Amino acid sequence: MSPDDRNPDSLETKPASPGIPDEPEGSAPAGRAAAEFDVGKPVGPTPPMDFWRAVYERRSIRKFKPDPVPRELVDQLMHAGIWAPSSCNYQMWDLVAVDDPVVNRRLAELSLQMGNAPVNVIVSYGRDFSEDGWANVQSASALIQNMSLAAQVLGLGTFWITQMGDREKVREIVGLPYDRLVIAVVAVGWPKFAPKQGPKRRPLAQVAHWNHYGGRPIPSSPRPADWASDLLAIYQRARVLNGLRHNKPRPWEVRAIEQVIARWFPAGAAEPAGERRWLDVLPCTGIVSERLARLCPGYRFEVAERTPEVAEFVAARVRGSIRAWPDPDPAAGFHAPEPGAYDVVSCLYRLEDLAPADRATLFNDLARWVRPGGRVLIGYVSRASFHDWTERMRARRGGLKGVEYVLSPDPNIGPFESLAPSEVEALGRAAGLRVVARHGLQAVPQPEEIAFRARNFGPRKQGLARLLGRALGALERLPGVQTMRGRFRYLLLERER
Ligand SMILES: Cc1cc2nc3c(=O)[nH]c(=O)nc-3n(C[C@H](O)[C@H](O)[C@H](O)COP(=O)(O)O)c2cc1C
Repeated sequence: MSPDDRNPDSLETKPASPGIPDEPEGSAPAGRAAAEFDVGKPVGPTPPMDFWRAVYERRSIRKFKPDPVPRELVDQLMHAGIWAPSSCNYQMWDLVAVDDPVVNRRLAELSLQMGNAPVNVIVSYGRDFSEDGWANVQSASALIQNMSLAAQVLGLGTFWITQMGDREKVREIVGLPYDRLVIAVVAVGWPKFAPKQGPKRRPLAQVAHWNHYGGRPIPSSPRPADWASDLLAIYQRARVLNGLRHNKPRPWEVRAIEQVIARWFPAGAAEPAGERRWLDVLPCTGIVSERLARLCPGYRFEVAERTPEVAEFVAARVRGSIRAWPDPDPAAGFHAPEPGAYDVVSCLYRLEDLAPADRATLFNDLARWVRPGGRVLIGYVSRASFHDWTERMRARRGGLKGVEYVLSPDPNIGPFESLAPSEVEALGRAAGLRVVARHGLQAVPQPEEIAFRARNFGPRKQGLARLLGRALGALERLPGVQTMRGRFRYLLLERER
């Protein structure tokens, strides 16, 4: 078929077959044994559940009871799966359900995500088949969603795994031929508990449009300059309210915060509780704020965020009072931070995701909120460090990249760029703040970080990575290296009295 024979709107159009009456795709041609084709009826009991409840109550379940799942139920899920639409109804999917603990352990070595459920269903599709418009991936995805909804009706829990480590190794472990591309893994088991509250969704009005797109798309660029601040707020709100899965503190980042607090706020723990006020600005996930509040119980913590939802989320972690900014809503209990009221105002690892023009505005706000003689604590990832270099290496390896996966310094929410120390200090001075002290930490990747980044490598490479970590550790102890080349930089500034 020449390209001209194709319907421009459909990559699926098949050659015309004059004289043959149209029959629905996938129906059994006359004369073939009916047994060759599936009849499309559930292969097990079907507990009643309203369609809408199944759609809205399904949640990704990641903690399971150890109880086995009867194979008949897994078959029932897979059967619901194969009744999903597929491109041209070619059904080039092949599934392998793994309930053998030995095989599941091998899968879990590739990614811990496959170590959660008693059953992992490997979903594959023809590798070079129906690639146009990613129809192979789309078809497999439709199958997965059917399986997930069927599981919901049966009282089973599922979660969809793309982070499976090396998908070719997954394929080999379960004996699928090269011709099959592993698209995803569906973990299946009996939920350990029903999540009380699911991740939230962006409102329909922001997402759906009639006849003509009338919105402003959230950028898919990791460059802060490409992000308007209101879009960043929408994106971060979506990510933060999405269940915190990507927001786990990394031990080396936590250690850096602990060290800097011990250095500059040693009395934080000793102060009489609640007498002094600390405002943490743009805490985002609250990982760092939670740590600050624990290290400095002598302060009363408040948080300032761009949206009430995120402020509320963080305040619950920090047990602080809530401040929304820049759109306070007193009726809803959200107020703007009080000017000149705070003994300490901190902003840790958030300047990096702001567009350059917004950084200056933020510094002005920090300076406005701190009391005369009060301190402003800034933490950021320095451009004069190994950070950008390792990010480039990761990108070259074809590793995770782009907006969602920019890891910095914890899995970052949104755009990110490291900052030149001179630029940050200039912003502080322009806002009327005086530099009191500077500090640098982690001039080389920490051993835990190296182990973490190498976790999907083989044992030999992991050993090499550990050795590298030890050698780099020696380098870090050389005088001046931390201050000059630390990835994490901290600034202590003071508002003139
Ligand atoms: C294409 C796709 C890939 C996903 N990959 C993973 C994954 O690798 N690991 C994981 O824990 N969850 C994964 N999920 C689950 C999502 O995180 C989850 O669906 C989302 O947070 C919404 O939560 P909910 O399913 O409870 O509504 C994936 C979902 C989809 C659709």
